[in-house]
Amino acid sequence: MEKITLTQPDDWHLHVRTGDILKQVIPHTARQFGRAIIMPNLTPPVKTVEQALIYRTEILQALDEQSDFEPLMTLYLTDNTSIETIKAAAENPFIHAFKLYPAGATTNSDAGVTSLKNIYPLLAAMEKHAIPLLIHGEVTAAEYDIFDREKLFIEQHLTAIINNFPDLRVVLEHVTTEEAVQFVESADPKVAATITPQHLMFNRNAMLVGGIKPHYYCLPVLKREKHRQALRKAATSGNPKFFLGTDSAPHFSHLKENACGCAGCYSAYGAIELYAEVFEQENALDKLEAFASFYGADFYQLPRNSRTITLSKQDWQIPENYPIGEHSLTPLKAGEVLSWRMAR
Ligand code: NCD
Ligand code: ZN
Repeated sequence: MEKITLTQPDDWHLHVRTGDILKQVIPHTARQFGRAIIMPNLTPPVKTVEQALIYRTEILQALDEQSDFEPLMTLYLTDNTSIETIKAAAENPFIHAFKLYPAGATTNSDAGVTSLKNIYPLLAAMEKHAIPLLIHGEVTAAEYDIFDREKLFIEQHLTAIINNFPDLRVVLEHVTTEEAVQFVESADPKVAATITPQHLMFNRNAMLVGGIKPHYYCLPVLKREKHRQALRKAATSGNPKFFLGTDSAPHFSHLKENACGCAGCYSAYGAIELYAEVFEQENALDKLEAFASFYGADFYQLPRNSRTITLSKQDWQIPENYPIGEHSLTPLKAGEVLSWRMAR
């Protein structure tokens, strides 16, 4: 049987929610990953160091006792975040970044930043205290086409942020376009990007051809094929600016299969296997370890993991759903067969 052994990977962009959903999803992530950057878009959002530490404790309590999975906490940036909060976060060993959601850009982003210029003093403080800025890079004004929002964010805002704060470490999260790939490639090494499994595997036809398929709806929305090809090339290129971030974003199935379905794909159940499939198709399995286990840790200035995981070439069927009380979660590629499996 074909096998590959990798340094244990980390997930540099993850949503785990709270309560019953957290209890269902966190073991999936902890089984594969050593650490994960935990997104702060709860309701209400995680805005202070104290809130992040409470959330961290809830995550640790939802884990198996033997687990040594480490949640890396982030804070949600608002128009009213204080400079003191930035300093306190940078000094706290459990907090690793601030997340910038333009207000209204995605799930639970209503409290996000309304004007980027307003937060320039905060970005200056992040630069000074050396704490990274993670960006959901989409413009939000109603006149902009949803398929153009990432590209326009880069043109209208990101270029200025990078130029004004040359020492600020920035991750453009879940990149979805050729323009984003080119921007990150040509930027300073302080600028990096995460790439999700869904944006590597699917273009917008998956979501829209033959009926609306709500389980493929996430933000930034799936794009056309040429963008998917650019992402696959970037992920498998061996360029350290691109690393693994699943953006696994669990929502109850009934809230996605809805007249106003919410955005997010659930991939944590088999994240590393999904990426392995893509890297194998690109004849780049030799590039998977660095993408999944090295480049993100290096960017965050954290040690690489010392354990390993092993994947075997072995078909297995993804469940149709994961029950949670009277509801359920529908995983990405529900019911389909994956060809790599991580040893338990
Ligand atoms: C995420 C969520 O559900 O929290 N949804 C998504 O479609 N990706 C938020 C986000 O990362 O944009
Ligand atoms: Zn996300």
